Amino acid sequence: MDVPARARIIVVGNEKGGSGKSTTSMHILISLLREGGRVAAIDLDAKQRTLARYLENRQAFIARNGLPLPMPEFAVVEESGLLHRPEAEADEATRIAAAIDGFSARHDFILIDCPGSDTNLSRVGHSYADLLVTPVNDSFIDVDLLASVDPDTLKVLKPSRYAVMVWEQRKQRFARDRQTVDWVVIRNRLSHLDARNKRNVGHVLEALQKRIGFRFLPGLSERVIFRELFLSGLTLMDLDQTGSGLNMAQAAARQEVRALLLGLNLVTDD
Ligand SMILES: Nc1ncnc2c1ncn2[C@@H]1O[C@H](COP(=O)(O)OP(=O)(O)OP(=O)(O)O)[C@@H](O)[C@H]1O
Ligand SMILES: [Mg+2]
Repeated sequence: MDVPARARIIVVGNEKGGSGKSTTSMHILISLLREGGRVAAIDLDAKQRTLARYLENRQAFIARNGLPLPMPEFAVVEESGLLHRPEAEADEATRIAAAIDGFSARHDFILIDCPGSDTNLSRVGHSYADLLVTPVNDSFIDVDLLASVDPDTLKVLKPSRYAVMVWEQRKQRFARDRQTVDWVVIRNRLSHLDARNKRNVGHVLEALQKRIGFRFLPGLSERVIFRELFLSGLTLMDLDQTGSGLNMAQAAARQEVRALLLGLNLVTDD
């Protein structure tokens, strides 16, 4: 694994609720830990706390079963309680910066899971990304969150609010430390059926990537194994250690996760 000189910040974000941010976060996080990476996690979705709850479930599983599964350090950054908006935003920015600073020296990666809505916490989180991963479901409803598309020609008409927000945060990032962001849109919950829709969404994402400045990767298929282990805080990458073997579908799922990490340049194939 390539270990960077300072913690590399992976932000998983999309304003679209339920597109698979937390699921993607869990799989990237546990895969990197299993590769021997020192990884910390920050949950910016203090209302749902999906990633934090997953990690609490994992901690409880470890305690119950006495298995030394790799476990990341993690923090939840809450929305500010201050009433005055500029002060609240400054308070949130300070607390995100403190969480990142606290983890940065001791970790190779910091993974940040964002809420599925346009909040100040999410915007500030995006401004720290070295790698921004945006899962979209294979649907024009999700593509609409990236850009408006002509219904007849499937041509891209204009970038959406989220794409404009990412552009703004990239500028903030460049102004802060001259770093650029690798923005990767991944197609989550790809179905093995529905070939026509899959192709059409694929065409539009292809056209969009040049216009909006991301690259896109296949991501994860729709599979039960990507959701059924939540309550025990596990992923399929843990199953060797827990003694459960993998069936063929699960082995294929593991390949998808591996391909995703390779595509994101988080691991190398050796
Ligand atoms: N590849 C997948 N295969 C099967 N189920 C999936 C997959 N990806 C996500 N899901 C399921 O879809 C739902 C939404 O996923 P998830 O919570 O990861 O999305 P999210 O973007 O974090 O949502 P929110 O915007 O509410 O934070 C969950 O029930 C999850 O288990
Ligand atoms: Mg989530």
